Parts: sequence; structure tokens; C-alpha cells
Amino acid sequence: MKETCLLCLMFLFVCKSNQIGLTVSPSRSQFFRGESVTLKCEDHSSAGWTLRRNTSKGTRTLCGSEWGSADGSSCRIRYMYPLDSGVYWCESRGGGASSISVNISVSGGSVILQSPVLPVMEGHDLTLSCQSQTPPSKPSAAFYKDGSLIRTEPTGHMTLQHVSRSDEGLYKCHISAHGESPSSWISVSEKPRTISPPSTTSAPLLHVWLPVGLCVLVLLVLLVLLVLLVLLAVRRVLRKSEADGSNEITYSEVNIIRRPQQPIRRSKEVPGPEVIYSTLR
Ligand SMILES: *[C@@H]1O[C@H](CO)[C@@H](O)[C@H](O)[C@H]1NC(C)=O
Ligand SMILES: *[C@@H]1O[C@H](CO)[C@@H](O)[C@H](O)[C@H]1NC(C)=O
Repeated sequence: MKETCLLCLMFLFVCKSNQIGLTVSPSRSQFFRGESVTLKCEDHSSAGWTLRRNTSKGTRTLCGSEWGSADGSSCRIRYMYPLDSGVYWCESRGGGASSISVNISVSGGSVILQSPVLPVMEGHDLTLSCQSQTPPSKPSAAFYKDGSLIRTEPTGHMTLQHVSRSDEGLYKCHISAHGESPSSWISVSEKPRTISPPSTTSAPLLHVWLPVGLCVLVLLVLLVLLVLLVLLAVRRVLRKSEADGSNEITYSEVNIIRRPQQPIRRSKEVPGPEVIYSTLR
């Protein structure tokens, strides 16, 4: 029992140390040149984390030494340039675990598509807004997916209801007289298999909870196996002793003691030989 508990603890530790979340604030995937962004890793292991990015300038570059400023538990880019566009992610210091990765685009022009930086949950609504740096005379915006026009919205906002995997794709928008936004990949994630609620500001979601779920599953399977093994062992022992009992008993000694005939006070009792059966293995 002690060993099993130890195993549990070890597994929980392993499960827990795999959790890394990534938050982006403000929580969107496109930025105007000159805006600032703060990225934060939420790592529950003791090993610590590093924040890395791939851009056209370099791969796996480290926050704090090659870009941005590391500040306590977060990383900040004070003034973003189009060259800061790229993929960002957190990694545990050991390199074993990593968070979800996010695409961030910095517009070289004056229009951005406000799209979620994290995958959208299947079945949820997705609202996209087209924004220009200076207020447009007419907010009307055209929205494109994978290069073709979906629709034009006079308000500049477009809502896709109950998104499914088929809504995944590369989106951009256009405001006349202002220009076009960069393209952003919007991914749709499967319905959650965990109790983790959807969140627009933090990234732990499926990516973090899935390893935990797997860990717990493995733990359960191991426990079931253990119980089965114990049951099998008990059955074997029982069978063996049963077999021993039916076949191997020998009556080895029979003592017949004839007592000398004596006058007995109680005359009803029939004096006779006393017989003792004893069992020996
Ligand atoms: C970053 O770039 C490296 C090297 O090209 C690649 O192996 C890795 O998969 C990239 N990471 C992400 C999250 O795209
Ligand atoms: C980032 O964008 C590329 C295409 O531009 C896409 O293939 C990739 O899946 C995106 N990654 C994430 C994490 O959204």
C-alpha cells in the first residue's frame, strides 16, 4: 500500500510539472507597429521556463537576451516592429515541456484584424473585427478567408456562429481607403474533454490539461493492473491450498489403546478401546 501511494505521488508530481500556460496581453494576434505586448509563462514546475520565438530574423531566440525584456515572470516588447511577427511559445528550462504556441503579427500598414490569439473552441462563436489605426470615415470592412471574400460588414465586425473545424483558415480584412490587414491563421480546437473553461485571456486549455489527463489515465491503468495482479496471486494461493487439502492429507497414525479392564463406577458406560485419529502431513 505504501508503495502504491508513493507511485501516486510521483505521478501527480510528473503530471503537474508538465503544465505550462502562455498568456498574451492584450489578447489578440495582430498589432499595430509601435504597440506593446506582454507575454507570460505560467509554469508550475520548479525548473522554471524560457520564452522563445521564431521570426524571419532567427529561430528559437530567447526573451531577455535576444529580444524583449524579461521582467519577473513575464516578457515584454515595448515597441513592436513588423519584424517581431512570428511564433511565440514557452518552454521549460529542461526543454521537456512546452506551451501552446501563438502566432503574432505586427502590421506594417494601418489596418489589423482583431482575431483570437488562441484556438477557438468548436461550437463557440467567433467575432472578428477590422480596425484601422485612424478612425475610418466608413467602418465597412471586407473579410477574407483563404484568399476569397466571405462577406462585407458595414459595422466592421463579423461573427461566425458555432464554429467548426471547417472554419479554420487564414483570415484577413480590408477597409477601403485604409488598406488590408496581415493574415492570421485561426485554428479551431476540439470540444474540451476536461472541465477547464474556455478563456480568452489565458492559454492553458487543452494543451496543458491533455498531458494531465493522460497521466491520470496511465495512473488508473497501472492501479487496475496492480489490483488484477493481487487478485491473481490470491487466487493462485487459494487454489494451491485447496489442492493440498483434497489430495495430500494422510492418516498416518492410529492408536488403539486397550485399557486394562477395571471396575467402573458408572456401569452403563461400555468399556472399550479408546481410538485416536490424528492427521499429519
Ligand atoms: C521554430 O523553428 C525551429 C527551427 O526551424 C523549428 O524546429 C520549430 O519547430 C519552430 N517552432 C515553432 C513553435 O514553430
Ligand atoms: C501560424 O501560422 C501558420 C500559417 O501562417 C500556420 O500554419 C500555423 O499553424 C500557425 N500556428 C499557430 C499556433 O496558430
